[in-house]
Amino acid sequence: METTFDFLSKQAKSTPPSLIRAILKAMQDDEIISFAGGMPNPISFPEKELTDSMQRVVKDYGSKVFQYSITAGLPQLREYIAERYNKKYNLDINAENIIITTGSQQAVDLIAKVTIDKGDEVLIEKPGYLGAIQAFSQYQPNFNPVTLENDGINTKELKRVLQKKKIKLGYIVPNFQNPTGVSYSAKKRKELFELVQEHNFLLIEDDPYGELRFEGEALPYAAGGKTTNSILLGSFSKTITPGFRLGYMITKNDKLRLAVNTAKEAADLHSNIFAQYVIWDYLINNDFDAHIQKIRNLYQEQCSAMINAIKEFFPNGIEHTTPQGGMFLWVTLPQGMSSMKLFEEAIKRKVAFVPGDPFYVNERNVNALRLNYTNASPETIKIGIERLGALLKEVC
Ligand SMILES: Cc1ncc(COP(=O)(O)O)c(C=O)c1O
Repeated sequence: METTFDFLSKQAKSTPPSLIRAILKAMQDDEIISFAGGMPNPISFPEKELTDSMQRVVKDYGSKVFQYSITAGLPQLREYIAERYNKKYNLDINAENIIITTGSQQAVDLIAKVTIDKGDEVLIEKPGYLGAIQAFSQYQPNFNPVTLENDGINTKELKRVLQKKKIKLGYIVPNFQNPTGVSYSAKKRKELFELVQEHNFLLIEDDPYGELRFEGEALPYAAGGKTTNSILLGSFSKTITPGFRLGYMITKNDKLRLAVNTAKEAADLHSNIFAQYVIWDYLINNDFDAHIQKIRNLYQEQCSAMINAIKEFFPNGIEHTTPQGGMFLWVTLPQGMSSMKLFEEAIKRKVAFVPGDPFYVNERNVNALRLNYTNASPETIKIGIERLGALLKEVC
């Protein structure tokens, strides 16, 4: 029976529905070449090794892998993560600084939950990660989007925002950003660090793609793992499996970590402990770096196939980013051209992408779009980009 009573909270009403999911649903047609998804390539799932680990942890740890566990997560997995980050980024974090979360997405949500009061000033990249915009929106902040350039956030614009507003929380994706594929330069990281220190806001560096670098050298985080006003997020979703839903947050801020721990306890008690044992066992019994290298090699091949096809088939006046890793690149259309309108035509031509709109807080009919290259062969990528190029030549 229909009811006129509205059960939804203001919080729920302030969260936009995911346009991407709606798009993916609208194009369940096998003939469509889709650059719209954001899924890792199945090459990143070490199926046999994970199956071995599943059997081994049941044998070695018995009922522990099936029992309730502590909220912060499996201590030995947290120790592994701490050691890896210390070695790779020259940090000095320990297991106590880490909470295992149900994907890094849960960390974004829990941090927002414990830090944002309605109307608080929050800084995000423009364009920014849709999942963060969604998670933050639930807590009704005031968004301050700052333009993302080819080498990171526009620091001049950021300074202006920081002078005008008391920013409480900032969120960035420093490596191979979603949606643009852009990475922060060493200079921008340093500038950002100085601004975080000067204005003392809490900076989240969300880095699920950092391991997927296929060009250039890894750079230190702006503040992550170093200061008490920073949080670093990581994930096993892009390197082992997103299905296990395991990510983590690292921070030296004890008060904040305790608050997140309490919020996590209220949300789900702890992340899947069987999955945590399996991932840990996999990590200590296999060559994780060799596995990651396989993913990098494939993504590099797919990314260059896409860039070469763009150069061959797109008309002049269309710009694209050139990622050094990760899963996406970003295309900027001529001024005034709506990627939303282009999307409808593209579907008719059996090629799909994500229009730029959902990556902006309050801009519509933007002239940019996201392309994912990790799930099609180089040959298919070429055909898909040729289709898109033909459409662009007609409308440009
Ligand atoms: C920037 C960013 N952060 C977080 C996530 C969520 O990842 P996880 O599977 O670890 O929750 C994604 C997934 O696409 C992402 O692109």
